[in-house]
Amino acid sequence: MYVCLCKAVTDKDIQRAVQAGASSMRCLRQEHGVASQCGRCAGHAKEVLDDALQQQAPVTEATVTVVTGTGSGVCYP
Ligand code: FES
Repeated sequence: MYVCLCKAVTDKDIQRAVQAGASSMRCLRQEHGVASQCGRCAGHAKEVLDDALQQQAPVTEATVTVVTGTGSGVCYP
């Protein structure tokens, strides 16, 4: 399903980006152009991003990671 119509980015594209190391909206914007034109996709893209991050690294008592959404400046390792 398309998430960002302006840049033709799908939910699968976002899931693949997360698997490749993307962890923030900044990364999706820099690498794929998500929310860089009309911006209407930002809310849904964030939901898809958060879901993909949760599926990739389930939170347990032993591993807690805080994702701020502002990124660290490095999108892909
Ligand atoms: S739908 Fe994503 S920038 Fe317009």
